[in-house]
Amino acid sequence: MCGIVAGVARQNIVPALLEGLRRLEYRGYDSCGVAVLQRGEARRVRTLARVCALAEDARAEALDGPTGIAHTRWATHGMPVIDNAHPIFSGEQIAVVHNGIIENHEQLRQALRNKGYTFSSQTDTEVIAHLIHEHYRGDILAAVQNAARLLQGAYAIAVMCRDEPERVIGARQGSPLVIGMGAQGAFLASDTFALSGCAERFVYLEEGDLVDIEGRRVQVIDREGQPVERREIAMQRAAWDAELGAYRHFMQKEIFEQPVAVARTVATLLGRGEQQAAMPEPAELADIEHVLLLGCGTSHYAALTACGWFEHFAGVTARAEIASEYRYRDHVRRGGTLVVPVSQSGETADTLAALRYAQAAGEDRTLTICNVAGSAMVRQSRWSFITEAGVEVGVASTKAFTTQLVALFALAIQIGRQRGHISDAEAATQMRKLDALPDAMRDVLAREPEVMAWAEALRKSEHVLYLGRGTHYPIALEGALKLKEISYIHAEGYPAGELKHGPLALVTRAMPVIVTAPNDALLHKLKSNMEEVRARGGQLYVLADLDTELMGAQGMRVIHLPRWYGVLSPLLHVLVMQMLAYHVACLRGTDIDKPRNLAKSVTVE
Ligand code: F6R
Repeated sequence: MCGIVAGVARQNIVPALLEGLRRLEYRGYDSCGVAVLQRGEARRVRTLARVCALAEDARAEALDGPTGIAHTRWATHGMPVIDNAHPIFSGEQIAVVHNGIIENHEQLRQALRNKGYTFSSQTDTEVIAHLIHEHYRGDILAAVQNAARLLQGAYAIAVMCRDEPERVIGARQGSPLVIGMGAQGAFLASDTFALSGCAERFVYLEEGDLVDIEGRRVQVIDREGQPVERREIAMQRAAWDAELGAYRHFMQKEIFEQPVAVARTVATLLGRGEQQAAMPEPAELADIEHVLLLGCGTSHYAALTACGWFEHFAGVTARAEIASEYRYRDHVRRGGTLVVPVSQSGETADTLAALRYAQAAGEDRTLTICNVAGSAMVRQSRWSFITEAGVEVGVASTKAFTTQLVALFALAIQIGRQRGHISDAEAATQMRKLDALPDAMRDVLAREPEVMAWAEALRKSEHVLYLGRGTHYPIALEGALKLKEISYIHAEGYPAGELKHGPLALVTRAMPVIVTAPNDALLHKLKSNMEEVRARGGQLYVLADLDTELMGAQGMRVIHLPRWYGVLSPLLHVLVMQMLAYHVACLRGTDIDKPRNLAKSVTVE
């Protein structure tokens, strides 16, 4: 969480910093700020409003200088108030922006107080600023190096010093930081997307690295203090720019981009896309017996959906683990395991730590499914597959989810084929289903007006129950997550068969129950579950495939999806769930792309 952008530009850096912050706002938006070195002074503006307001303030204050640092905050230590907004200063000399958590900040704060430092914020970042100040003897690089040795926890920082006007130092330990270079200068940011307007070449810092940007010179230094060369990569052009176009919100835009995102992902999987997948050699998959999927939130639900595919098509056992749970418990290792972290950002702290935990336990076959090339998880894994969702700006994940499902489905087929669990012909038949998926998705998205009518009926609800069975149970979970995170309505997903084991007690006339009802082998069981709800006055909202013959009736509304799409049906039903959450949130007037208390990339534990 939190976004950093900084650098030394050939001209005034403020427009590049503000544009970078606008692109990083998804990482947190409790406050934002920018500071530059201007005529021998460190000057800053900070606001609790959004980046567009910061831009106004920067203009009003005539902020202008080639060297600067900027930040968008997701609060960890200290409330979202101006004093806690970054950049944080130590005196008038040192300015710092920080992403991460300093675990020993209390001890350091006390030691600094004993030396006469006073604190004007509640942040752990101010500890870093004062520590650097304390070590400063005319060389800001040396001061950051010495201070960094005392920090415990995770951080990415960018630092500038009033007395060294064309210099910015960056350091990373556990939080992402990338260098971007181009004709406009040298920059630092939390991700490449932030710099896509001003840099063409990128270098990811590794754990413990520092970078010294001085004028046009960029030098990376490793944790031993030695100058080091890190691999430079050319910018992977963003598949979609962060412009809204005709849409009201990025979430809406991203929902409607899904047919294209899925088509691109399928093309890559079939070797027809622009990217090469770093997938395992077929022989590496032949002796897989078990798949361990690691993820959080929506990515965990993608993993949960895919478990059924791995068991059915590959004949292997599969377990989807919540990364934050997995990383903290003992577990029994099994031979022939493929570890599959699933993540949109590739930076989620818990998933990254779970991957490392598995590796430390001896798992060496790791394959990350991720939407961001070059992200920490991709670099940490032996193999990777980059989904082609393009930049996802809305905090609520949509197109990342469906493209993850496509990749996981293809992986299940591939493993099944290599293990001889399914024939080549069967594998080819299943893969062909992916080709027609984008059109089927367009058909579902065309149901938006019907979904809007449901949203109108649900807008005043306080609680909503979501039900599904089989591979649609995770879709019920995902539907509930989407609704709660952007509309703030309490929602819960349940496997429909569990209803009478407890949640049925909640069902009254005031309880809307949303059911994902594909025309699969479990439909008649699901129909019984729906009757249990109707008999208690519950209001049913059913997503049914046209061929189910489920019709609207008293206490039951139905949206018909075009037809049953077989094993890939979860990818269609979830589109309705996404649109429903979106339209309910629109009617309730929430901040859809930036829901309260959340941030897109959860880089703290
Ligand atoms: C929900 C959502 C989150 C993320 C989760 C994992 O809409 O976006 O639940 O899915 O924070 O993030 P990634 O996929 O980046 O690891």
